[in-house]
Amino acid sequence: MRIGVLTAGGDCPGLNAVIRAVARSAMENGDEAIGIRRGYRGLAEDDLIPLDMRTVSGILHLGGTILGTSSFEPIREKAVDRVKETVDRESLDAVVAIGGEHTMEITRRLHAEFGLPLIGVPKTIDNDVAGTDFTFGFDTAVQIVTDAIDRLHTTAQSHDRVMVVEVMGRNTGWIAAYAGLAGGADGIVIPEVTTTVEEVAAGIQRRHDRGKDFSIIVVAEGAKLAFAGGEERLIQPVKDSDEYGYPRLGGIGAALATELESRTGYETRVTVLGHVQRGGTPTSTDRILATRYGAFAYELAKAGDMGKMTALRGSEMVAIPLPEAASIKEVDLSVLEIAKRFFS
Ligand code: F6P
Repeated sequence: MRIGVLTAGGDCPGLNAVIRAVARSAMENGDEAIGIRRGYRGLAEDDLIPLDMRTVSGILHLGGTILGTSSFEPIREKAVDRVKETVDRESLDAVVAIGGEHTMEITRRLHAEFGLPLIGVPKTIDNDVAGTDFTFGFDTAVQIVTDAIDRLHTTAQSHDRVMVVEVMGRNTGWIAAYAGLAGGADGIVIPEVTTTVEEVAAGIQRRHDRGKDFSIIVVAEGAKLAFAGGEERLIQPVKDSDEYGYPRLGGIGAALATELESRTGYETRVTVLGHVQRGGTPTSTDRILATRYGAFAYELAKAGDMGKMTALRGSEMVAIPLPEAASIKEVDLSVLEIAKRFFS
């Protein structure tokens, strides 16, 4: 068999571990793995590289993707014919597409409407792909944010300050909720739950009244700035959207900090973690998860089980139909409820 592998959408720690797992599984079984450069663009432009022992050696611990990535959409770019030609010319029996929820939707359509032999592997630090319990990259991002919160505690405590930490999560607050819980945050604001500025300020005041002179508030970039009067604002640095049409986000941390300082009178500072959360070496948990995803994707390819996405359900790897994956998975609110017990 000849199995193609591509990475699409934003990068994410663990992508290389998946690539390596597909390639090494193929080698182990006498099959061939081929790397497709820069997502679906590589299929449209026939930009492929062999994934042999040399190419995939020494990449397990590396962040990013050795294949490069892009958000190229063959259907929108009217490039499906070129993609099909490459698949035929290169005799690819299957292509493993590693990407987020949007890539899963593109992959679903390319399989269902154009008959391409595709298998999806979900990736995102945001952990918001439906159908799977956890995506690789999430654990690494949570660890990075938790480390940051730990460090911010030092200054918060020493200076009696309120520290607002803005984290990624454009649609959902998984990173904010998990890292907030792990880091002992005193307030967590996420897109799924409307939390007003007044509520957060009251929480900070309660802490002060109980003798706690500092507070750490974690806010997801996709959360709206909400007020008790009912006004809600999505904060964007510039009114712009990315290739997928998603709004570019950022700035909620600063906006929230300004509102909290004026309401509480306590010095409030903001830290925006940005792409630091997506960079660097994956945690061991993510390396293992990514390797399991890649190894299982190979099994599906070998079995000719196309149009599926590899998913983690409990501790099991399962194959689910791609349509089940093409939507957003919101935060398990029970996690937030537990975190709330430690707010004041
Ligand atoms: O999807 C992952 C994510 O990290 C989002 O949380 C964030 O909004 C987005 O990527 C940023 O993407 P880009 O690097 O394209 O600005």
